[in-house]
Amino acid sequence: MSRYTVVMTGASGSVYGLRLVEQLLTYGAEVMFIATPMGAEVMAYETGLKLPQSGARDAVLRFLEQRPDLPLRVVADDDMFDAAASGSSPTDGVIVCPCSMGFVGSVAAGLGADLAERAADVALKEGRRLVLVPRETPLSLIHLRNLTTLAEAGAMIVPAMPAFYTRPTSLDDAVNFVVGKVLDVLGVEHDLYPRWRA
Ligand SMILES: Cc1cc2nc3c(=O)[nH]c(=O)nc-3n(C[C@H](O)[C@H](O)[C@H](O)COP(=O)(O)O)c2cc1C
Repeated sequence: MSRYTVVMTGASGSVYGLRLVEQLLTYGAEVMFIATPMGAEVMAYETGLKLPQSGARDAVLRFLEQRPDLPLRVVADDDMFDAAASGSSPTDGVIVCPCSMGFVGSVAAGLGADLAERAADVALKEGRRLVLVPRETPLSLIHLRNLTTLAEAGAMIVPAMPAFYTRPTSLDDAVNFVVGKVLDVLGVEHDLYPRWRA
């Protein structure tokens, strides 16, 4: 069974991260979910999903209308003793979705100051898949330099940029396109968006 870590930061677009968790679980993967404090706040603001101190996993699965026995683990961002903090814990990839510019800066600087940053740092040092889904506009030179540093270190940058050649008719279509692109990078099958001339 494949295992992925999904990190949600305080960038706008928490719906992308939630759709990603839902799709990975549907695919049959084990998912570990970490929200930074601002990630949790922005998610609550944008979607109404609040992460309770206990029962966070059940709250997420309920919100996603998924079976309660699916292999989702929700881990607190301050739990630096979690397995995700160590390279000895196997994972098929870490996806930061959506990814704030603050997070990009911290990981580019190698800080590893909380579990989310450390999980991303570990993916880079172990040569594992790290996918960043940045959402910010416009981008400053500092943002661009930090993103370049991370791309040079091996991260895949998949910006939250919906396409229009698919002729989306709803916000859901736009979200599905971005999440589908992330799944493409991970090699996870999906039918979230129509392939061009397929
Ligand atoms: C409603 C809201 C939307 C935000 N959207 C973005 C965004 O799209 N991109 C971004 O880089 N920061 C955004 N921010 C700012 C980040 O939340 C802030 O920089 C935060 O410190 C990021 O922390 P984190 O990376 O630990 O989650 C937003 C903040 C709020 C309150």
